[in-house]
Amino acid sequence: MINNIECAVVEHQQAAYENVESLVLLLCKECVAGVDKINLPTSLQTAVKAFIAKYPDFYEVEMVHSLGVMYQDKLLQLTVVGCGEGKECTPANFRKAAGAAVRVLQKQKATTAIVAVPLLLNPTRAHYLQAIAEGLYLGSYTFNECKGASKPATLCKLQITSAVENGRAVLAQAEAIAQGVTLTRNLVNRPGNWVNPVVMAEEARKVAESHGLEFEVLDEKDMAAKGMNAILAVGQGSKNPPRMITLKYNGAGDAPYTAFVGKGITFDSGGISIKPGENMGEMKDDMAGAGAVLGAVQAIAQMKMPCNILAVLSCAENMPGGNAQRPGDVVKAANGKTIEVVNTDAEGRMVLADAVWYACEQGATRVIDIATLTGAVIIALGNETSGIITNTDALADAIKDAGKKAGESFWQLPSLPECKEAIKSDVADLLNSAGRAGGCITGGLFIGEFIKEGVEWAHLDIGGTSTATKTSGFKVKGGTGFGAMTLIRYAGTL
Ligand code: BES
Ligand code: MN
Ligand code: ZN
Repeated sequence: MINNIECAVVEHQQAAYENVESLVLLLCKECVAGVDKINLPTSLQTAVKAFIAKYPDFYEVEMVHSLGVMYQDKLLQLTVVGCGEGKECTPANFRKAAGAAVRVLQKQKATTAIVAVPLLLNPTRAHYLQAIAEGLYLGSYTFNECKGASKPATLCKLQITSAVENGRAVLAQAEAIAQGVTLTRNLVNRPGNWVNPVVMAEEARKVAESHGLEFEVLDEKDMAAKGMNAILAVGQGSKNPPRMITLKYNGAGDAPYTAFVGKGITFDSGGISIKPGENMGEMKDDMAGAGAVLGAVQAIAQMKMPCNILAVLSCAENMPGGNAQRPGDVVKAANGKTIEVVNTDAEGRMVLADAVWYACEQGATRVIDIATLTGAVIIALGNETSGIITNTDALADAIKDAGKKAGESFWQLPSLPECKEAIKSDVADLLNSAGRAGGCITGGLFIGEFIKEGVEWAHLDIGGTSTATKTSGFKVKGGTGFGAMTLIRYAGTL
């Protein structure tokens, strides 16, 4: 059970539709022919056909049409959700449609429902079944933790009609993934006074203990001993001390480790270079990268995927205060490079500098960092697409591809060596901020300066995608969990 939804698979046979409260059909335009083949009782089949004939646009992605029909002397809720036409009929669009469908069921307060999917008559469509289940589990997400008296939620048991081979195993995968993404969303949605770096470490410890992962937390003293002065500088303005958290998942013997490194700023006030007051509260989501890494590694461990993952969560709170770092300060990062802090609000790249170094130090041969790094990525790519900066084009391609399968969009930005000029400092090795021009690129390139020679690296800027302002598809307003599903899919390619 996730987000009050339970999913099971059932064969396309008449018995499946007996005593059903609510019937949802996921239909693309071409699926209409399949309505005759899913063994609906004749009266329902007639009702469905009349219904879709009445709404010629029924197949548009996420389009919802509902109607009450009498069936077996009871009122049955019939809902058709569009999944596209032609080459739109991708798992990604079925995932979105499933998200829209489950919210209709929630509104109906349904306790049982059949999700009828003619497309799943084909036993080879496991990736569609998985996407649909992910959409059902994630579209029903709600965040009520901050409400005083929460009303008891109704559990809804769903049966998905499917002939897909190993359907139950496919559902188990979707469940593990949705659980991971739900963990990410919860961490992102919790306010800054609930989630500080020490709390992040406790959350990570829970994941490590329940899945038998190697676990380590570095406190301020440990970090000082390793020379991690960049993360320490960011954290020193806050009463809540920083933490560098590592989880190690070993699913592939002595194969090399791929590191997932997340920015975990549990609140970003900007520090002394303080942000404007308006919407500052949104910066409680500035740990979304670390949240995505934790959600991903939980799912990967739960599915026992055959890969080796080193997860590093680089956590600090960026606050002004008597001990806060000042603009103009120079700090020496763990790899020996010095950073001139021109803007204390460019803190993400500083905590990641020491974190990606630490991942390399622990032997990772490939590093993917993920961060709500810049507002500039929103100007460049909007709120649906995350930016990639990399030293290995093939890695960016693999991430884009994993993202497509996960229903998350990525786009690689160029990282010309010329752009590195902008982050050179007169007084130190590097500037932590190069101003407005190409902000997403220079932010990424800064992090790349802390990657060991020969290590493949990609930086994912989720500044525009970590939260959503409206509910749609499998996303619910608030924390999206963006990146977790892509990292999981990517791990599947290792
Ligand atoms: N966490 C912010 C980036 C951000 C801002 C993400 C708004 C999503 C929405 C980051 O720490 C930051 O403040 N970045 C600065 C960098 C600048 C000072 C070089 C920015 O983007 O303005
Ligand atoms: Mn900032
Ligand atoms: Zn930040």
